[in-house]
Amino acid sequence: MRTLTRGDDLCDLVGNTPLVSLRKLIDVPGVEVYGKVEYLNPGGSVKDRIAVAMLDDAERRGLLRPGGTVVEPSSGNTGTSLAMLCALRGYRCIITTPEKTSQEKVATMRAYGAEVLVSPNVGVDDERHYTRVAADLAARTPGAYMPDQYSNPVNALACEAIGEEIWTQTNAAVTHVVAGLGTGGTACGTANALKRRDARIAVVGVEPEGSVYGGGEPRPFAIEGIGRHYVPKSLDLCAIDTIETVADADAFATARRAAHEAGLLVGGSSGAAIAAAERLAGRLAPPALIVVILPDSGRSYLSKRPSTSSG
Ligand SMILES: Cc1ncc(COP(=O)(O)O)c(C=O)c1O
Repeated sequence: MRTLTRGDDLCDLVGNTPLVSLRKLIDVPGVEVYGKVEYLNPGGSVKDRIAVAMLDDAERRGLLRPGGTVVEPSSGNTGTSLAMLCALRGYRCIITTPEKTSQEKVATMRAYGAEVLVSPNVGVDDERHYTRVAADLAARTPGAYMPDQYSNPVNALACEAIGEEIWTQTNAAVTHVVAGLGTGGTACGTANALKRRDARIAVVGVEPEGSVYGGGEPRPFAIEGIGRHYVPKSLDLCAIDTIETVADADAFATARRAAHEAGLLVGGSSGAAIAAAERLAGRLAPPALIVVILPDSGRSYLSKRPSTSSG
């Protein structure tokens, strides 16, 4: 799938990520399961896609001008992608992030030259919440632009490319997609594109136990990148057929299993998605072809990851 070997600019290397069989992890006769390996994007996650699209859009609309500042609240991946692009395009970059974000992600953003402000893990009603700190900074900083992935329609639009890639890579045989829900951009964009191709394709969204997208009471959870204690604007639930909930322990155990048994070192949200796909595969009537989106790499979480298989 990745045929481009020489890009003019890093942005040319974003997207067109490969699918790899997950048969070593999910073995159900008549059900093929593939992972879409988004950690192969140059910034290390699926968020490169929306970062490029949101900055291109802002530049086109004159909202971001040479020498300007990009401010964004992020659990780390969008922040890393934006930090990389700001380095490339000469913008100042300020990322706000909650305390639970891994040290590796914070260090990576800083390594690209971004200023990273870490907020305590407080509720959104508190002015120290990382989303409120970012909004305040964007309002006070001259020449600042906040892409705001939680309300920016470019987020889901940019993710339609994921659906188109899956359609082509599976020769139109895909029947189900499983994707974690953070902003919902990945799942919604992929769903919108694939459902235009074939309305029967089902999209399963995945959130951690304690997140409220599918209902229930808010509770703390440890997985980064997916789930929230309120439903953001970006989450166009009508494009998603069902929501699966996965416990932290299940997600992390599955991510460890993916590394140990399939050589796929993925993050906790990928673990959650694989765990949900495993349940789905067990329920389906074959033949079926499931694609699981694997948003980022486990390298971003090594300081949080127990190194033994029993952890
Ligand atoms: C690790 C990880 N997984 C999944 C997601 C969810 O993607 P989306 O925001 O498109 O729903 C994110 C979003 O930041 C993420 O960082």
